Amino acid sequence: MAIPEEVISEIKYRNDIETVISQYSNLKRRGKNLVGLCPFHSEKTPSFTVYPESGSFYCYGCGVGGDVITFTSLIENLDYIESIKLLAERSNVQLPQDGYDDTMQRVKNTVYDINRETAKFFHNYLMGDSGKWALDYYLKRGLSPKTIKHFGLGAAPDSWDALINHLKSKGYSIGDMVTANVVGKSDRGSYYDRFRKRLMFPIINIRGNIIGFSGRALPEDEKKGGKYVNTSDTPVYKKSENLFGINFAKSHCADRIILVEGNMDVISLHQAGFENVVAPLGTAFTSEQANLIARYTKEIVLMLDADAAGQKAIKRASSILENTGLSVRVVVIPNGKDPDEYIKANGPDRFKALLEGAVSDIEYKLLMAADGLDLNSDDGRLKFLSAAAEIIATTDDVMARDIYIGRLSDKYGVSRTALNARVDELRKKNVRTQRKAEINNVIHPKFSKDDLNPDRRRSIKGTAAEETVISILLNHPDFYNEVKENLPSDKMITSLNRRIYELIIETLENGKNSDISVFAQTLLPAEVGYLVSLQNGNKGGNSPKAVLKDCISVILEENMLLNAANPSETTVEDWAAQLQDIINKKNKGN
Ligand code: UTP
Ligand code: MN
Repeated sequence: MAIPEEVISEIKYRNDIETVISQYSNLKRRGKNLVGLCPFHSEKTPSFTVYPESGSFYCYGCGVGGDVITFTSLIENLDYIESIKLLAERSNVQLPQDGYDDTMQRVKNTVYDINRETAKFFHNYLMGDSGKWALDYYLKRGLSPKTIKHFGLGAAPDSWDALINHLKSKGYSIGDMVTANVVGKSDRGSYYDRFRKRLMFPIINIRGNIIGFSGRALPEDEKKGGKYVNTSDTPVYKKSENLFGINFAKSHCADRIILVEGNMDVISLHQAGFENVVAPLGTAFTSEQANLIARYTKEIVLMLDADAAGQKAIKRASSILENTGLSVRVVVIPNGKDPDEYIKANGPDRFKALLEGAVSDIEYKLLMAADGLDLNSDDGRLKFLSAAAEIIATTDDVMARDIYIGRLSDKYGVSRTALNARVDELRKKNVRTQRKAEINNVIHPKFSKDDLNPDRRRSIKGTAAEETVISILLNHPDFYNEVKENLPSDKMITSLNRRIYELIIETLENGKNSDISVFAQTLLPAEVGYLVSLQNGNKGGNSPKAVLKDCISVILEENMLLNAANPSETTVEDWAAQLQDIINKKNKGN
């Protein structure tokens, strides 16, 4: 059973797509529609379009699209039912209590339950007599009992089945334990606890659910089983989309969020009073994580280790952050320490000073550009200043440019005018390349429909006709009978369009609305995007009925031509007859 259509319409009516999407992307009006930077991929020129009239969105850059429900699922990382629930809640729409298919939701709830029970088990073990080895370690690292409790830290016993037995006693099935990824299954089919003799850090999402675990070995065991064993992706956990500590940081980040490398850094800074700290979960910082941060705060401080890996991570992170609208500052911790070591050695006040001295992204880049150059030589200075001009030219902030140019001019004795001229020249060049990219983007969208529909090559003409039929059908569901009678789905040339066509026909057949969000349950996001672009393309123009008829004949004809060109399964006689048929038709048409 599905959620009743009228409830979905009500929810969509009350959650106006323009208002909802405006919370995540800065939209500007362009004619009837709105455009902005796509919240789902990194871009500099807006290719994300919202169509208020049809209540849909489409990104010409990455191909995602859909309606307000699809948007919510994608941006909040929820499934269809969860998104409806969230939108219903936000707009005070009452959902019918039961009776809709919430299998996925039930699986997720079971995983959350198992995770909570597992975290409790690890915590109780830590606090019991046999957990002394782990508690000693935490205390030695300076964590207070209060912090340990606050973060729900625990430890996994040195056993292959202690957790399995515990969860069994609580009534959970072994299959669900595997789904939650706290239990593994060997090639021989036996089950085992995935976390053994490890310090356990629960990972908690913004809604306060435990979604996974990070398990650290004691230092003396690091060589044996690896330093970390983490939860792999499960129905409730994707490491690239989550951040350790976000559950606490999200309500203490009016000013900024600090990004550190390790879980221990988050915990240790938190204990010292800095609650706005998060860490990526053993991945390189991703754009999903950047977007998550951008939803809660205006500024991010990158505080990564001073080693080469940390510096590389800063470079990577700052390029990801460029398009999020977050302002970026960088702190380099002196003496190669990590934040945890630094605050323990120097105390919170020194740490605060370090934080306040955090240089801007530009300053940091200037600092790095000077690295390895001899600034006392003319050659070195020249090299540095030309690199510096390029760095300064990247900011759109006039005042910032002025300040940096002033500083460089004072420090290196170059005239302001000369520096200004160079920066302006570079900016003009940048604008030109950007314009070119923008135009290029319109002519050759990065996201090519060919990637989605590789069959297109079989018949470009036929595929275009198919797209028109789909577009018309979406805009005029009342043509359904006519289309269905004249265009059997097996005549569709490309398998993507055939699949979509069958889905639309089936939906209409069941008397349902051909609402985009209905398709979002069966199609991939890029396929939904394709549908939205077809819907908004309004390919039928002013005489959809006539266009429809033409398109159907084109498809039938192209289909026949393709089959004729591939006569392996037909006899020579059949083939001749088919060709004759085509020739007759063509003559009739002229
Ligand atoms: P670190 O090795 O810096 O660990 O990895 P840490 O958190 O500072 O721990 P301590 O101070 O040595 O106890 C940073 C983060 O990268 C992930 C973990 O999330 C860790 O917190 N990581 C690291 C892995 O997932 N796997 C690894 O093998 C290493
Ligand atoms: Mn560390």
